Amino acid sequence: MIKKFLLSFVLLAYTLTSTASNLNNEQQAAVAMPDSYSADVSAKILAQGGNAIDAAIAAQFVLAVTLPEAGNVGGGGFMVIYKDNKADFLDYREVAPLKAHRDMYLDKNGDVIPNLSLYGALSAGVPGTVDGMWQAHQKYGSLPWKSLVTPAIEIAKNGFIVHKNLEENITRRINSFEKEGIKVNFAKHFASATEGTNFKQANLANTLQRIADHGRAGFYRGETAKIFTDFMAKHGGIIGYDDLNNYRATWRKPLENTWRGYRVLTAPPPSSGGIAILQWLKMYDLLSNNKPALAHNSATYIHRLSEIGKRVFADRAEYLGDPDFFDVPVKQLLENSYLKERVADISDDSISNTGAIKPGLKESPDTTHFSIIDKWGNAVSNTTTINYTFGSGVIVEGAGFILNDEMDDFSVKAGVANVYGAVGGDANAIQANKRMLSSMSPTILLKDDKVKLVTGSPGGTTIISSVYQSILNVIEFDMSAEQAVNAPRFHHQLLPKDAIEHYPGITKANIAALKKLGYTLSRRKFGSVQLIIVDGDNLDAAAESDRRGKSIVLK
Ligand code: GLY
Repeated sequence: MIKKFLLSFVLLAYTLTSTASNLNNEQQAAVAMPDSYSADVSAKILAQGGNAIDAAIAAQFVLAVTLPEAGNVGGGGFMVIYKDNKADFLDYREVAPLKAHRDMYLDKNGDVIPNLSLYGALSAGVPGTVDGMWQAHQKYGSLPWKSLVTPAIEIAKNGFIVHKNLEENITRRINSFEKEGIKVNFAKHFASATEGTNFKQANLANTLQRIADHGRAGFYRGETAKIFTDFMAKHGGIIGYDDLNNYRATWRKPLENTWRGYRVLTAPPPSSGGIAILQWLKMYDLLSNNKPALAHNSATYIHRLSEIGKRVFADRAEYLGDPDFFDVPVKQLLENSYLKERVADISDDSISNTGAIKPGLKESPDTTHFSIIDKWGNAVSNTTTINYTFGSGVIVEGAGFILNDEMDDFSVKAGVANVYGAVGGDANAIQANKRMLSSMSPTILLKDDKVKLVTGSPGGTTIISSVYQSILNVIEFDMSAEQAVNAPRFHHQLLPKDAIEHYPGITKANIAALKKLGYTLSRRKFGSVQLIIVDGDNLDAAAESDRRGKSIVLK
């Protein structure tokens, strides 16, 4: 109640200052967040005069407390930034520890040891989030660092009210660990977080306090580093002090390309997402040229995009990995002539043979996303992850944060699928200090150098489908933010063969038509899209409605 009152007061104050400052060309601001705590805190930061990057940093730390499925300090992510008409990209992806090696998850016969890359201390990459937020603040922050970490500390110390959706996710995870006989300490720390209770995390509050006091050193050195590395040594992990001390997030150029007159700013490698989204959108236009417009989610629409998906994922498996270790042919993969060749054999009347789709060049599902636009028109699109829901299932005892299981995003053995069914080879093989391939695809569309749309999603490989479909929903089908994030989505990724996963809400007739073509269909929900659309002076923001997301437009 008090919290609600304070927020209303802040928003009212913002409305008043914003009305006055319209004279200075200030516009509406908006946040689209995966939960109400991150939404309220980031809106408050904007209302206090913070910019989009300040709001993003505060949201990232809050999510480490209130969205333990994916929010984190023990993971990593990607941030696309558009500030003062300049585009930037922050890669704070985890890296493989120095002791990691190609065959570390194989037994003596060369077979993959089940679950070793997915659960437990050995499945973790070196976390990148704290250095990422620290570097984002050094380069773009306008409010004091401490003021951006403090809201998270307070929520960790004083507790937050557990949402039904969080309790359900915790219960599901604990049950699956029990069923599969996986020995991790997740239940010990999270079983008491039941709907409606006030859940406190004292050790996490202390870790966040050290981060607030000492910046990156509060995590990668000193007490946190000692607790972390001692814990690793005791529980079969290989992340050591040098791994932590050496970790650095990297500034890269965002992947940029034009599509239908929009400048698309998205994630470059080590994400596969940006290339995949651009391939998908461009191949869709090549296939649709000179043909009648398709109805949204009609059988032909789903079929065409699924055919494209086969080709996108064949390229992903072969060509994509960490660009610091592997030469990724970005330019060739996006060339019009190449994409024309790729769509040449797609027919609206039949499914192409999966076995024949090769890479084309001659050679819970969790995670979370948020989108922000500030009153100056700067934007942040940020996707962050500890990989699978609740990461490795391991909480660093004494430091209170959940550890990622990002090592599973490497190709642990050529051709063997990871938890998302994605395969890979040399480009994404494990090597010390290398970043594992990702599907995270934070994306911003610009029109005439002004932000038009900020989007992104969690969901493993389905991230890519969620993001490109959110773009088509807005640009091709003229949907509002609310409609675009809630419209039923679908996903096809080459393997399993001719299998489409889809939301409820695809019509029976379209499902029957797809089955007749030869697809097998199964229902599943992917991650929730957080989207902001700019329409003239107005912002339209939405978070997918059936989980615990929240969007706020500050007028
Ligand atoms: N861990 C999911 C991704 O990065 O794609």
